[in-house]
Amino acid sequence: MELKQLFLKRESCRNFSGKKVNKQIILDILDEARLAPSARNNQPWHFWIVENQETFQALVSPLRSFTQKAGAMVILTKPKNLEYGTHNYADFDAGIVTAYITLAAINKGIQTCMIGSFHDEEVKSVVPALKDETIQLMILFGYCDDSPREKTRIELTNMVNII
Ligand SMILES: Cc1cc2nc3c(=O)[nH]c(=O)nc-3n(C[C@H](O)[C@H](O)[C@H](O)COP(=O)(O)O)c2cc1C
Repeated sequence: MELKQLFLKRESCRNFSGKKVNKQIILDILDEARLAPSARNNQPWHFWIVENQETFQALVSPLRSFTQKAGAMVILTKPKNLEYGTHNYADFDAGIVTAYITLAAINKGIQTCMIGSFHDEEVKSVVPALKDETIQLMILFGYCDDSPREKTRIELTNMVNII
């Protein structure tokens, strides 16, 4: 699909159908997304695919109710104590790989919703294996029952200065 069409089609789905997304599809998406660039090619990310349904339910239960009908979840983390210079490159890198993930997903007909409104302690109490990780984002995947919305975005002229 043409890139702009993908950009238009990808949106945050808050009306998942409830159908599960096959783990292999998620692995294929992550395999494409790991081609994302990162500062010094550090690739400071780790993907935790939540396959266990009890764990999935425990993770989404404190969140908005639409999350319960997502078909898969990936938790994106970075290692603790990353040594970097003055810039927080790892967070840029997380953003870039997330963009790749969401676009690789929609290219396969899978919609996503990035979730930043989680509480670290709640997630770590459900998944103790994350105790030494810094949790960046939860990404929900699924089949979306909505038709694509019009994008509400600031006009280009209001975000560009030519100097
Ligand atoms: C870092 C990040 C965190 C987000 N957290 C949430 C969230 O907790 N819950 C939610 O429903 N959407 C969340 N979103 C989705 C944004 O609200 C959404 O991307 C934005 O409104 C633009 O809409 P669109 O993705 O449909 O184009 C998040 C997006 C980003 C990039």
